[in-house]
Amino acid sequence: MAKHTIVLIPGDGIGPEVSSAAKKVIEATGLSVDWVELLAGATALEQGHDNVLPERTVAAIKAHKVALKGPVTTPVGKGFKSVNVQLRQKLNLYAAIRPVRSMAGIKTRYENVDLVIVRENTEGLYSGIENEVAPGVVTSTKVATELGCTRIARYAFRYATRRHRRKITVFHKANIMKLTDGLFLKCAQRIQDEEYPNIEYEEVIIDAGCMKLVQDPTRFDVMLMENLYGDLMSDLCAGLVGGLGVTPGANIGDDAAVFEAVHGSAPDLAGRGIANPLALIMSGVMMLNHIHEEPLAAKIKTAYDAVLSEGKTLTRDLGGTAGTNEFADAIIAKMK
Ligand code: NAI
Repeated sequence: MAKHTIVLIPGDGIGPEVSSAAKKVIEATGLSVDWVELLAGATALEQGHDNVLPERTVAAIKAHKVALKGPVTTPVGKGFKSVNVQLRQKLNLYAAIRPVRSMAGIKTRYENVDLVIVRENTEGLYSGIENEVAPGVVTSTKVATELGCTRIARYAFRYATRRHRRKITVFHKANIMKLTDGLFLKCAQRIQDEEYPNIEYEEVIIDAGCMKLVQDPTRFDVMLMENLYGDLMSDLCAGLVGGLGVTPGANIGDDAAVFEAVHGSAPDLAGRGIANPLALIMSGVMMLNHIHEEPLAAKIKTAYDAVLSEGKTLTRDLGGTAGTNEFADAIIAKMK
């Protein structure tokens, strides 16, 4: 088996707890791996770096091309620019892929949910262009480029084709943001027309789309949208299938990929050993598939499916009492 070098960024809050759990589950598959553990987030500042995103961390991901990342904290309304936004822009990780699926053993209001959010990850309102134009008047610039909109649309159609998905729905607000969301739509329409005419395609205005989604999530399949909408929709969709503890993600670019859960650093749980590590473990499964270790990815998936179905060892967010490590150990026990 080829040896992989993977950058591991534990992150802030619950990050170190869930990433050490994910690391041991991944190692238990027998993967031949060298971890390069590096800092990002508030932890980097605490440990003496002068930057929340040290250049060494970015350089290592560029060199090794793949990273597993815990969540990092971003101060609200003040302080440093989000590490996630910086990382995605610096590494050009333009596609966020977030599968959202009902899982056996996790009871929710909905059954048979099987969605994939494809979120543009580098533009939109997260471009970080904010100004005070006059006292009491501030602006935030929403950026949409033809290049950015086209490449995320192409990514979504290619993903849908390779994964045998049935339909792409673009969520937008082009009735109000005629230029920016209008361009997003135009690019998606062109890619469908010229490159993927056989994939079913629809557009919904996002406000009505939210209502349709909570009425019947099974009417959607691949959901394509710009950055801010994708951020909000990811947590909404997580709520359809059991919450942030079970929703993984990948940030993909042409030259590197960073795998991380949808959830944040959960300060309310940090240091207590009770956070659910499954979302990061599932992100690890996506990572193993990405590095062509599909049988090892399947091993973890079969194991956590068994743990969830059995329902004996579940974390608190899923109605159980197990801690982070106990849950990870239960998954490892199923792999033996
Ligand atoms: P959050 O996702 O950290 O927490 C929201 C709620 O979900 C909390 O009640 C939390 O306890 C729960 N939760 C989250 N992850 C969980 C897990 N693994 N197991 C069980 N319960 C879990 O969102 P919040 O509180 O809005 O943000 C906290 C910090 O995280 C902020 O600084 C934010 O900027 C950052 N953040 C970082 C992200 C990243 O690094 N990818 C993504 C989202 C937020």
